[in-house]
Amino acid sequence: MVSRVSILITGASGGIGRAAAIECANQGARVGVHYNANQEAAEATLAVLPGEGHRLYQCDIASPEAIERLIESADAELDGLDVLVNNAGISQRHNFKDIDYATWQDTWQRVVETNLTGPSNLCFCAGKKMIARGGGRIVNVSSRGAFRGEPLMPWYGASKAGMNAMGQSLAQALGPMGVFVYTVAPGFVETEMAAEVLASPEGDNIRNQSSIGRVAQPEEIAKTISFLALEAPEFMTGCIVDVNGASYLRS
Ligand SMILES: NC(=O)c1ccc[n+]([C@@H]2O[C@H](COP(=O)([O-])OP(=O)(O)OC[C@H]3O[C@@H](n4cnc5c(N)ncnc54)[C@H](OP(=O)(O)O)[C@@H]3O)[C@@H](O)[C@H]2O)c1
Repeated sequence: MVSRVSILITGASGGIGRAAAIECANQGARVGVHYNANQEAAEATLAVLPGEGHRLYQCDIASPEAIERLIESADAELDGLDVLVNNAGISQRHNFKDIDYATWQDTWQRVVETNLTGPSNLCFCAGKKMIARGGGRIVNVSSRGAFRGEPLMPWYGASKAGMNAMGQSLAQALGPMGVFVYTVAPGFVETEMAAEVLASPEGDNIRNQSSIGRVAQPEEIAKTISFLALEAPEFMTGCIVDVNGASYLRS
C-alpha cells in the first residue's frame, strides 16, 4: 500500500493557504492546517477537507519556540512530515515620505520576522525531521515583488527576495539528503491580503498588468503548490515558478 503524503501548510486559515489545503487534500494528502489568529476560519478550512486525518495547528511563526513545538506536534500527529508549505505571510503598505523612523524599523522587523525568519525556522525544524525520515519537500510561497520592486513595501519585496535566495541555497544544502526545495512566486492574487488595494482606484491598473486582464484566483496558486508538493520532479529543486499572468517576465 502506498502511504499517504503528510503536508503542513502554514497560513491555511484563508486565501492561498486555504485553497492549497483543499487542493492537496483533494489529491489524497493528509493536511496540517496551520493558522495564527483566525481559529474560526482555520476550522472552516478543516471542515471542508475531503478525507481523514487532517489536523489543526495554531502558531505565531514570529516565535522560534512556537515553531519548534509546531513541527514536533505535526511530525508526531501527521505520521511523519513529508512536505512543508511555507505560505503564511503579511504585507504592509506605507509611503516612504509619510512615515517616521520608528515606523520604518517596526515595519521591517514585523514583516521580515513573519515572511523570512519564521519560514527559515520552519525550514530548519521541518528539514531536520525530513532528513531523519530519509527525505521530503519544502514549498515556499514568495512573490513577484521579489523581482519587480515594491515601492510601497520595500520590506515585503526584500523578505520575499530573501525567501527566494534561502530556498535556492537550501535546495543545494539539502538535496544530498533527499530534501527538495521549490518556490512559487505569484503576482497579485484575489485574497484578503490584496483585497483593499484591488478594490481601490489602483485595482484596474493592477488587473491590466496581466495580458489576461485580471489577477490570479487562489486556486491557481494552490494547483501550483500542490504540483510542487506532490508531483514535481526532484530535479526541479531550486526552481522559482512564476504564476503572474505574464504581468512581469523575468529574463
Ligand atoms: N495575495 C496576493 O496578492 C499575494 C501575492 C503574492 C504572494 N502572496 C503570498 O502568498 C502568501 C499567502 O497570502 P494570502 O494572500 O493568502 O494572505 P492572507 O489571505 O492574508 O492569509 C495570510 C495567512 O498567513 C497567516 N499569518 C499571518 N501572520 C502570521 C503569523 N505571524 N504567524 C502565523 N501565521 C500568520 C494568517 O493566519 P491568521 O489569519 O490565522 O492569523 C493567514 O492564514 C503570503 O506569503 C503572501 O505574501 C500573496
